[in-house]
Amino acid sequence: MMMDTKEHKIKFVCPLITVTDMKVSRNFYENLLGQTVVTDFGENVSFGGFAIHLRPHFKMLIDNKEVIVGGNSFELYFEYDNVEQICEKLKAENVEFIHELREQPWKQFVVRFYDPDKNIIEIGESMEHLIFRLYQQNNSVDEISVMTGMDKTFIEKAIFMNNKPGDMLEWCDNYKLEEMSVFFNNRAPIYEEKHLEHIGGMESKQILASFFPPHTKSMIDLGIGTGLELEAVFQRFPDIEVTGLDIAGDMLKLLVEKYPDKKINLHCESYFDYDFGNCLYDVALSVMTLHHYNHQTKMDLYRRIHNSLKNNGVYIECDYMLSEHEYENPQAMEDFYFSEFERLKKEQGITDNREYHYDTPCTVANQKKMLREAGFSSIKEVWQNKNTVIIVANK
Ligand SMILES: C[S@@+](CC[C@H](N)C(=O)[O-])C[C@H]1O[C@@H](n2cnc3c(N)ncnc32)[C@H](O)[C@@H]1O
Repeated sequence: MMMDTKEHKIKFVCPLITVTDMKVSRNFYENLLGQTVVTDFGENVSFGGFAIHLRPHFKMLIDNKEVIVGGNSFELYFEYDNVEQICEKLKAENVEFIHELREQPWKQFVVRFYDPDKNIIEIGESMEHLIFRLYQQNNSVDEISVMTGMDKTFIEKAIFMNNKPGDMLEWCDNYKLEEMSVFFNNRAPIYEEKHLEHIGGMESKQILASFFPPHTKSMIDLGIGTGLELEAVFQRFPDIEVTGLDIAGDMLKLLVEKYPDKKINLHCESYFDYDFGNCLYDVALSVMTLHHYNHQTKMDLYRRIHNSLKNNGVYIECDYMLSEHEYENPQAMEDFYFSEFERLKKEQGITDNREYHYDTPCTVANQKKMLREAGFSSIKEVWQNKNTVIIVANK
């Protein structure tokens, strides 16, 4: 008996359907359905995934056995996300439909029709498209999973991969990596409007001051940007001394205009390079900035933040994190984001060590673990709205 090893495994290549008129069928598949011919041997034309074969020739190859046409016993399945549009095109070409646009029990839109030889053709929207469509109709991941029968991790990935509608593209095309400071400098004029629309909302910025210890006199803010988080801080602590770090000068310029009378020392410098000093601050704050970095980079930073805090100081991180409230398997999502980032860097030939803008959020569990290992104690998740989570950690 043959072993099912790699060398002996039979390779499936493609289905073959028989046709009466090669010219008519080629025209149907090439011009109407947009398929590309890979090989043309006259009686046999291959489109890669399937082949069409001239019926009399095929009959001869199978010892003149009977060929039954129109048995409806199989179909060729294609995907195209705008099924409605393709349906109109088919109607205009007087194609014979089995049914026009129809929703399947798992919600997918499909059409079925005959090719010139009565072979059934189905065209359906891709499952990724279906999932994103359902998501845009305000269905949760759980609900989509029940409706479609698809695995939740697959659903979460499909939502992520599609989640860049028109207005987001001007904000962030996740597929084209930009150096971090270039990214934020270019978007400084639209930053506040777009950022608040898509992430956590203003509440996530305003609530932060309520976690500051009452005795707070000084704070350091990593990736301070335009200072959205400062409004509530100044309301509660009008005389607080703020040290703010950011690599995007255009973001800082907007901040300076907002608070001309406050005690703010701004440094247009990376928090990876800035010397934080020892025991200087009551509060260290980072808001929506560290989800761009990996575990090792964050761990080194957390140790330095820990060092920079006074003995009763606190570190507060408000960031894009992957929590169990939102995801079935947050770790799988974290792994996915990091591997996507690596894939994109490779694809785009990025080999330098500069920082590039790409969201690689970590799970809440990993965030807590990193902070614990960096020396923090009583690490608590104190607030959450979808993917925006606030963690407070004591020195
Ligand atoms: C999404 S914005 C957040 C700004 C502000 N904290 C807020 O919540 O509105 C992220 C900010 O982090 C800054 N940033 C990213 N990496 C940085 C780094 N290594 N050092 C300093 N700033 C950084 C960016 O320039 C940007 O202004």
